[in-house]
Amino acid sequence: MSFDFTTTSSSLKEMEAKAKKLIVLVEVLFLVSLLIRCVTAQQQQRLPLSSAVERSALLDLRSSLGLRSRDWPIKADPCSSWKGVKCENRVVTGVSVSGLRRTRVGRLNPRFRVDSLANLTRLTSFNSSGFPLPGSIPDWFGSRLPALQVLDLRSCSVSGSIPGSLGNLSRLSFLYLSDNNLNGSVPATLGQLNRLSVLDLSRNSLTGPIPSNFSLLVNLARLDMSSNHLSEQIPTGLSSLSRIQFLNLANNNLTGSIPVELGNLDELVELDLSKNGLESKSLDDLFSRLVRLQVIVLSENKLDGALPAAFLSMPNLRFLDLSGNNFTGVFPSLISSGNATGAVFNLSNNKLYGALNSSFGKFSSIDLSSNYFQGKVADYNGRNVILDRNCLQALSNQRSSDDCRLFYTERGLTFDDFSEPEAKRSRKWIFILVGVLGGLGFIVILVVMLVLILRRYDKGIPKQRGCANVGPVPEGDSTPPPKDPSIVSCVGDSFAYEQLLNATGNFSATNLIKHGHSGDFFKGVLESGITVVVKKVSLHSIKKESYMTELELFSKVSHARLVPLLGQCLEHETDKLLVYKYMVCGDLASSLHRVTDLEDDSLQSLDWITRLKIAIGAAEGLSYLHHECNPPLVHRDVQASSILLDDKFEVRLGSLSNICAQEGDSNQNVLTRLLRRQASESGLSGSSPAICAHDVYCFGKVLLELVTGKLGISKSDDATTREWLENTLSHITMYDKEMVSKIVDPSLIIDEDLLEEVWAMAIVARSCLNPKPSRRPPMKYILKALENPFKVVREESFSSARLRTTSSRRSWSTAFFGSWRQSSLESSTLPGHTNREFTGSLKQSGRVGSHGSGGIEHSSSNKRLSSEIFPEPVEIQEIERQY
Ligand SMILES: *[C@@H]1O[C@H](CO)[C@@H](O)[C@H](O)[C@H]1NC(C)=O
Ligand SMILES: *[C@@H]1O[C@H](CO)[C@@H](O)[C@H](O)[C@H]1NC(C)=O
Ligand SMILES: *[C@@H]1O[C@H](CO)[C@@H](O)[C@H](O)[C@H]1NC(C)=O
Ligand SMILES: *[C@@H]1O[C@H](CO)[C@@H](O)[C@H](O)[C@H]1NC(C)=O
Ligand SMILES: *[C@@H]1O[C@H](CO)[C@@H](O)[C@H](O)[C@H]1NC(C)=O
Repeated sequence: MSFDFTTTSSSLKEMEAKAKKLIVLVEVLFLVSLLIRCVTAQQQQRLPLSSAVERSALLDLRSSLGLRSRDWPIKADPCSSWKGVKCENRVVTGVSVSGLRRTRVGRLNPRFRVDSLANLTRLTSFNSSGFPLPGSIPDWFGSRLPALQVLDLRSCSVSGSIPGSLGNLSRLSFLYLSDNNLNGSVPATLGQLNRLSVLDLSRNSLTGPIPSNFSLLVNLARLDMSSNHLSEQIPTGLSSLSRIQFLNLANNNLTGSIPVELGNLDELVELDLSKNGLESKSLDDLFSRLVRLQVIVLSENKLDGALPAAFLSMPNLRFLDLSGNNFTGVFPSLISSGNATGAVFNLSNNKLYGALNSSFGKFSSIDLSSNYFQGKVADYNGRNVILDRNCLQALSNQRSSDDCRLFYTERGLTFDDFSEPEAKRSRKWIFILVGVLGGLGFIVILVVMLVLILRRYDKGIPKQRGCANVGPVPEGDSTPPPKDPSIVSCVGDSFAYEQLLNATGNFSATNLIKHGHSGDFFKGVLESGITVVVKKVSLHSIKKESYMTELELFSKVSHARLVPLLGQCLEHETDKLLVYKYMVCGDLASSLHRVTDLEDDSLQSLDWITRLKIAIGAAEGLSYLHHECNPPLVHRDVQASSILLDDKFEVRLGSLSNICAQEGDSNQNVLTRLLRRQASESGLSGSSPAICAHDVYCFGKVLLELVTGKLGISKSDDATTREWLENTLSHITMYDKEMVSKIVDPSLIIDEDLLEEVWAMAIVARSCLNPKPSRRPPMKYILKALENPFKVVREESFSSARLRTTSSRRSWSTAFFGSWRQSSLESSTLPGHTNREFTGSLKQSGRVGSHGSGGIEHSSSNKRLSSEIFPEPVEIQEIERQY
């Protein structure tokens, strides 16, 4: 038995050991399972969105709000990668667009378009604070976002009224609508939101009363309705908000007394009822119960009577502002009692009076200014007490004794007068007199200066539009009719209306060439057999005066590169006609690629020689306008369709109705020029700016059109074009010819030699397209560069051009490369290439140095070096100074 027993006991021990092991194992398993659960929970957060409906809702929201792909990348999973999107169990629970910015397009017409939120059925939080959502809060918010707990629309430019349906958001805990333009009354249905913990409607234009059923918001901790136009009394029902800690109803039109029942708000820490029309009633009763109050602001109301003593015994008070009321009575009794003296007190702008003979040492800070305290102050040191504008003796900045006497006698009190010594009074008068005279003198000086400036400005204006030898060539539609119509009617021949009617087949549609922005163009054949183009300007059109501008222009200038005007016909009442020579080859826009063989639709593009010829011809025309007219004339409509071509592809510039004298020319005052420069550089000016550099820019686009064969670039300025430009310009560099072959019109057949010319034209184009108007080369240098394409690109001549800079700073290539340098350095399109260009210039400068003529030093500073290689040309500086 004993044996048996021992065996049993040993087996018992074994079992015990096994059990222990088992327990350990179970514990380990449990821990592992916990860990796994933990990890999966974490992974769940990162798991992709499961519902396709939610995904498409988010995509909808993305486009209706115009969000950027930087924040919400379209290909990535919203749960893991979209800023402000929160998921739980692969379902969207939170969307915050706060802090996000809209795309440029999205900013154009921002609206409160969040309809797709309705498909995010588990959404608990929507936060768009600071994100503009102009429009009103959709009514469906209340019914279709049942899970919503947080709605934050602070500072969203929301307008309209608060929809009553928000009262159906039964789970809502946080509702922020502050800093918007909400109007109308506060819907009583908000009282149903019994889970609400924060309600912030401040800084809107809400009207009407505070709904009495707000008493139902039993979980409210914060109520802010400040800075609205709320009226009527504070509902006594608010006293049932037993959890409220922060109550702000400041800056409204509330009236009546502060309900004494608010004394029930045991938890209240901050109370602000300032800037209303509230009256006193039982303030002592009210405040003696609010023991947790730390901050009380009751300023600018109609509170009157004696200062409630309760304030002085509030144990937690830190700040008390009773300023701007009608409190009256004597003060000392209050000071001696009470224990709240550590707080900041503001009692200014009341009607407190009497002597101040107690110590202020125990106050942390007290403002007693603008009251009627009188007598001498014993321990006044001016540190923690402000006593200005009282009736105190021996202190500066006090009320007048008359004022004080009046106050005291009105109340049947005695005022111990302190007449100021005569001397002091008269001194005061002197100060006032000096002040007044000084002020007057200053105003006179100001007025004189203003008049002078205005007069200078007035003088500047006529010159700005005037044209010394070209006569007034005013801008577009603001044109006053010319003073002497005979001047313009003698430009070319006078045609009879009938005659032109016949020539164009009654302006038949078949003869219509195009609708131009200044009129309709018709092809016509005169009786003599000459083919002409007739422009019909209807006086109903917006630009009706442009024909006058054009006629004036033709009466003053003539150049082989401008389209020949044969005559005009002004006799018809509404239709004014201009007659031009017919251009057989149309315009560049239509002849760059021409359908030659109607059979197979093949496009025949202009060969390179012709393109270069056209570029030079157009540059000649523009160079004439910019440099040979005084003041310079700006074409303002440089694009492929304005470059007309005769039968030999000689350029005749057309579209002349926009021409005007360059702004900022002749002696304008500095101010105007400065403003204009800012406007033109920031692209503020609505229509084409009237500066030559704008023409240069447009011409650059025409050149690129010639190089790349890409149609329509020169006529548009939209985002796509700009993107295309940026991309194309990145292939144009002075140090790599081959790169340009990537952008050359594929239909051009080009050998090595020609490629160099193409490359040169591309380089010219790029310098024309410098974003800074002042850095674009003047037209005459562009013309020279186009006439000498090899000089632009061949290194020999390139470096010799630089060598020449020492002798002749005015050489065209110097100027041109000067601006090219600028465009290379400044162009933001090429961050990666700039360095290479520097390296290139370093190498070259080394070689120039070794040739021994330039004496150019190596310098560690790239900037300095490059300015030594290409000294700023004089002409460029002059041009810059003009803007
Ligand atoms: C919600 O999703 C459904 C199904 O994809 C769609 O038909 C509906 O238009 C969506 N509603 C909104 C408001 O986006
Ligand atoms: C909404 O987002 C802003 C900015 O991220 C944040 O400061 C604010 O606290 C959020 N609102 C709520 C209610 O969480
Ligand atoms: C929501 O609120 C509106 C207006 O207060 C009410 O007409 C409607 O019946 C409420 N209930 C639902 C489910 O929308
Ligand atoms: C103060 O009371 C006087 C009359 O006692 C009244 O005329 C004045 O408007 C009141 N001021 C304020 C700010 O309520
Ligand atoms: C007291 O309130 C008035 C306005 O009522 C204000 O001008 C003054 O600066 C305040 N004093 C202090 C010390 O804040």
